[in-house]
Amino acid sequence: MRSLSHTDQEVYTYLKLAPYILVLMRLGVTQDSYRELSLTDLARALSTTVQNAHRIMKKLEDEGVIERNERLVKFSERGQKIIRYIIDTVQRYLRDMTVIELAGEVTSGLGEGRYYMSIDEYRRQFKEKLGFEPYPGTLNVKLYPEYIKNRLLLSKLPGIVIEGFEKNGRKFGNVKCFKATVEGAENVPCAVLIIEKTHHGPEIIEIIAPVKLRELLNLNDGSPIKIRVNMD
Ligand code: CDP
Repeated sequence: MRSLSHTDQEVYTYLKLAPYILVLMRLGVTQDSYRELSLTDLARALSTTVQNAHRIMKKLEDEGVIERNERLVKFSERGQKIIRYIIDTVQRYLRDMTVIELAGEVTSGLGEGRYYMSIDEYRRQFKEKLGFEPYPGTLNVKLYPEYIKNRLLLSKLPGIVIEGFEKNGRKFGNVKCFKATVEGAENVPCAVLIIEKTHHGPEIIEIIAPVKLRELLNLNDGSPIKIRVNMD
C-alpha cells in the first residue's frame, strides 16, 4: 500500500532521483550540514564524466533535492522527503516479506482456553510481553491443509515465550506466541499461540486478542478467518 500523501507523479519523480540520492548519501552528503563533494568522485561513482556529474548536480539542485553553497552540498527538505519515501518503501517491502499467512475456519475447543487465559501468571506475562490483556479465552482455528506448513514453520521460530510455572503442585508449560493480526480487525493486536503440550494436531492454532473476536467479527464455527503473523 502506498502512502496517500504522495501522488503517482511525485512517486515516479522520487524513484528517478533515488539512484542519485543514494550515491550522494554514499559519498557523505547529509541533511544536517553542508559537506564538500568532489565532482570527480561523483563522476567515478556514476561511471560518467566530470562534466556530466556537474550537469547531474545542477539538475538535482533545480529539482530542489540538494542545496549548494559553492562546493558544499546538503540535502534540502525535499531531498529529505524523498529519502524518507525510499526508506519507507524498502521497509514496507521487508515487512511484507516477513509476514507468515495462516487461514482456516473458526472452530470450538473444550473451553480450556478460558481456563488457561484466566491464570494470573500467564495473564501478567501476556500483558507485559504482548502489550495487551487478553480476553479470557482462545479462538481456535482449524487451518486449511495448505497452511499447516506455515504453522510448522512457526513452531521452529523463536517467537515470544511466555514462561511456564508451577502452581499448587501442577506444572504449566511454556507458551510461545507471535504477534499477529486478523483480517477485518487489522487494528486489534492479536497473537497466535503455539502451545508446547497440546492434544490438538498441528492443524489447530489458537488466537488471543484483547477483545472477543467472535463478537467483533461476527464469527461462528465454520467461518473463514485469515491471520497475518508479523515476524519483525
Ligand atoms: O470453548 P473454546 O475452547 O472454544 O473457547 P474458550 O477458549 O473457552 O473461549 C471462549 C469463547 O470465546 C470461544 O467461543 C472462543 O472462540 C471465543 N473467543 C473469541 O471470540 N475471541 C477471543 N479473543 C478469545 C476467545
